[in-house]
Amino acid sequence: MKRVLSGIQPTSDSLHLGNYLGAVKQWVALQDGHDAFYCIVDLHALTVETEPSLLRRRTLTTAAQLIAFGISPEKSTLFVQSQVPAHNQLGWLMECMAGFGEASRMTQFKDKSSKTGADSARVALFTYPMLQAADILLYQADLVPVGEDQRQHIELTRDLAGRFNTRYGESFKIPDGLIVKSAAKINDLQEPTTKMSKSSGSVAGVIEIMDAPEVNAKKIKSSMTDAGSEVRFDEREKPGISNLMTIHSALSGQSLSALEDEFAGKGYGDFKGAVADVVTEYLRPIRERALELLEDEAHLIELLHAGGAKARKVAAGTIESVYKNLGTLA
Ligand code: AMP
Ligand code: TRP
Repeated sequence: MKRVLSGIQPTSDSLHLGNYLGAVKQWVALQDGHDAFYCIVDLHALTVETEPSLLRRRTLTTAAQLIAFGISPEKSTLFVQSQVPAHNQLGWLMECMAGFGEASRMTQFKDKSSKTGADSARVALFTYPMLQAADILLYQADLVPVGEDQRQHIELTRDLAGRFNTRYGESFKIPDGLIVKSAAKINDLQEPTTKMSKSSGSVAGVIEIMDAPEVNAKKIKSSMTDAGSEVRFDEREKPGISNLMTIHSALSGQSLSALEDEFAGKGYGDFKGAVADVVTEYLRPIRERALELLEDEAHLIELLHAGGAKARKVAAGTIESVYKNLGTLA
């Protein structure tokens, strides 16, 4: 069976629709027929200062939402990064493989550090992609399902793995990214040319899974309106409507052209109403299930601990052979 690995940061109280459509939806589908490892990357979340109580809560709500979306702790290994110290061990080795220049070219680092100014950005924001490479390579993953924004990090991971293998002998499988074109970039409802993001300045354009259905319906109905009045997929001329069409299609299974036909002669208002219905009906049971799971924290923690134990075993095997190839006496 092919091995799948992906990760998500516990940096907010709710996942958003971009996380689901760009990544988690694929995670759920890949559990069948693959040996899947899904990691809540709490150490990555520390590149931004956080409160201990918040980190704990967000780790649990992220786990609850993943399970509510259909990640099964029986089929997949669902775990928390800090439960597996080997991530830090291999992270260091990846830092020893990566060049300062190539790390400096990572666009996520450039974007995030430019917000605060490079001087006050954390060193860990710079080394973040090397820890991510370790997350993936530790499990000898074949496939890494992610959104478009992670393409460059997956490329770096492949480069680092290849370099290590050439220098020290076959140690890592070279992973492939799995980026589903149609949903790899869901955009903000108010700024439909930028991606929907947890760190967006305003939540008005972000569909949060844990928000009440009425709140999300309102956000969709008051989303940015394009020029014209025709419901047509055209990302250049109609970024707002095209984004809503992508969302509708991904959740309802209707093709973009079927949507264009259905709404021919109707206006944006009707279409936004339909999108609001599709989104809220899809998310309603997910949110309810996540809230239910959060009522029994002890059970959630138990599930994650079991996943952590499985992950530690696989990761320890990789570290052992990698250290041996490096010539350490460990
Ligand atoms: P993060 O929240 O940054 O940990 O992202 C978790 C996963 O969601 C990653 O695979 C991202 O590529 C994906 N993702 C985040 N935002 C979006 C978006 N707006 N559209 C599609 N995928 C996204
Ligand atoms: N950097 C990823 C993001 O921001 C999260 C992540 C960390 C990840 N480790 C990973 C994704 C390993 C895939 C595989 O979305």
